[in-house]
Amino acid sequence: MIPQETVQQVLQAADVVDVIGDFVSLKKRGANMIACCPFHNEKTPSFYVSPSKQIYKCFGCGKGGDTLRFIMDLEGLSYPDAIKWLAKKYGIEIIEKEFTDAELVAQNERESLYIVHEYARDFFYKQLNESEEGQSIGLSYFKERGFSKQIIEQFELGYAPDSYDALTQAALKSGYTLQTLEKAGLTIIREGKSPIDRFRGRVVFPIHNVAGKPVAFGARVLKVDPKSPKYLNSPETEIYHKSNLVYGIFQAKVAMRRDDVCYLVEGYTDVTSLHQAGVDNVVASSGTSLTKEQIQLIRRFSSNITILYDGDAAGIRASLRGTSLILEEGMNVRVVLFPDGEDPDSYVRKVGSEDFQKYIQDNQQDFIRFKTEISLKDVGEDPIKKAGLITELVETITLIPDPIKRAVFYQETAHLLQIDEQILLNEGNKILRKKVADRNRSVGNQVSQPDFASQKVADLLIETEKSNITLKAPIQLQEEIFIRDLVIYGNEVLEKDPETGTEISLASYILDEITGINFETPILGTIMGICREMFTENQQIDTRKLISHENQEIQQLVVNWLSPRYELSEKWVQYEIFVPKYVDRLDELAYRNILRIKKEKFESEMRMLYEELGHIEGEDEQDQLLERMSKLKKIIMKLADELGSVI
Ligand code: GTP
Ligand code: MN
Repeated sequence: MIPQETVQQVLQAADVVDVIGDFVSLKKRGANMIACCPFHNEKTPSFYVSPSKQIYKCFGCGKGGDTLRFIMDLEGLSYPDAIKWLAKKYGIEIIEKEFTDAELVAQNERESLYIVHEYARDFFYKQLNESEEGQSIGLSYFKERGFSKQIIEQFELGYAPDSYDALTQAALKSGYTLQTLEKAGLTIIREGKSPIDRFRGRVVFPIHNVAGKPVAFGARVLKVDPKSPKYLNSPETEIYHKSNLVYGIFQAKVAMRRDDVCYLVEGYTDVTSLHQAGVDNVVASSGTSLTKEQIQLIRRFSSNITILYDGDAAGIRASLRGTSLILEEGMNVRVVLFPDGEDPDSYVRKVGSEDFQKYIQDNQQDFIRFKTEISLKDVGEDPIKKAGLITELVETITLIPDPIKRAVFYQETAHLLQIDEQILLNEGNKILRKKVADRNRSVGNQVSQPDFASQKVADLLIETEKSNITLKAPIQLQEEIFIRDLVIYGNEVLEKDPETGTEISLASYILDEITGINFETPILGTIMGICREMFTENQQIDTRKLISHENQEIQQLVVNWLSPRYELSEKWVQYEIFVPKYVDRLDELAYRNILRIKKEKFESEMRMLYEELGHIEGEDEQDQLLERMSKLKKIIMKLADELGSVI
């Protein structure tokens, strides 16, 4: 493990402009630097870097964080690996500290899984290229299918011998334990029988993680055999979560960023064939529909995704499935269908790389248009079916987060369906209104989402403004503003004690005033706790500690708060919450916010007492309770009064 002091040393040395400047070309704009976002495709820059706050934030795709997070996201590195990356850049030596036993076990387990996968990859690769069986069966299979030597090397393809335990025995001899082999999913331990290799008599496709380490295998039978599945895959392990990875991402990521589009195919061989034909921005979903994590992984490299599927009915259905998730993630989705009976693999072999690329260019269709056209064919002239189709299409359009893109799709779909655009808009607004209402109800739970729920609600609001929707600021939002002010303006000096000369900062004021409050949104309470700790320690709120906090939810919230959009946001005004645009109004605003929080707290106590009143028998106790309630009532009235008069 890297010692905490070293981590701090690295974080202090790392300069956000210096590091990010290695990857994108930054231009000065006021106090900040801007660039086109390296995480998504854009022509006008919405990615900004703040040297003073040491953070970056993209207003296009929402990514943001500190230097460390940038490296983690861009290079696909883990926390310790990102620290090491930065340490190397700044020439800081890392002397790893001794592990505790538990750390050692956990760390060693993962580490040994990686190592045994590397061992197995080398074993399969050697078997394919050097053993007699591998050459005569595996290699000849690949040759027959036209796999080049270079592709076999690049994808580290291999061959698992047709023996019960060739890999297991070899690995044991090399010092790996049976336990590790089993954990890795390479060996199957059967009761009362000897251990057996999972992959036998198959060609093997290693599945690499983003950093290029093999973390699992997919293995294909050589002859079609109805008794055994065509592909066998590694089970889920500590280092392999099927739903978080797509096949080929390591080999495709550079090209995906370069071409700013990701081709999505179904199978391993589609990926390898396209690479061989020079199309290298391609990954495979491995026969299942995409998960949110997989989409987010792809989006790290491009937000354009083109689905390349077979032209048969199953292919079409598959390309419709799961697409709503892709749309919801804000990606641009296109679809290409191949002539009946062809998949990308067979088609590229048939027509060659040039015509293949041309085919994609000529035949790619925007997803919603594609869906509209094929559905229209099914619907025909049936008016009831057509009405159903309209609802379905509108639902799909409302999934798109960007209002401008939505508007374009409304227009186009109206044209395709030959109906009035206003009908679609009305229908869409109905759905959005319902979403606003639902979200308003549960906004507290949503703050935890990286996308910042209140922002989403506000965005929705813009579009539905015409429908006269107003939101009342929920307590959760008030809390958020409150903690945000503590974090951002905590170190601002409100006043000087005239006698002692000590300065009273906003943080000391707030922390003094608010104790023992339970926040509706627990993470805000946690942040407040961290602030209190920092403040007790050295009378300062250090935002850098929060933006490099190990809890990513905290990171995200704080980065959002620190971003200029929030400082300038007019949206809060709609909620009647005051945004301290000018630091000199801070004391007043902080005061007001404290009043709000207190009032809220007393009101909830009041509700509890009222509840209690119903259960109390004794007259004395009832009296006591009533007295307490009337005191509370007075306080609440006073607070309300004060709030009404303080502007
Ligand atoms: P070839 O037929 O050799 O061209 O392979 P392919 O990759 O094109 O396979 P196919 O189009 O039949 O299937 C697409 C993907 O679905 C494969 O790459 C696998 O990831 C997955 N798949 C297909 N069959 C099976 C199976 O029997 N079991 C499992 N677990 N996955 C399968
Ligand atoms: Mn195929």
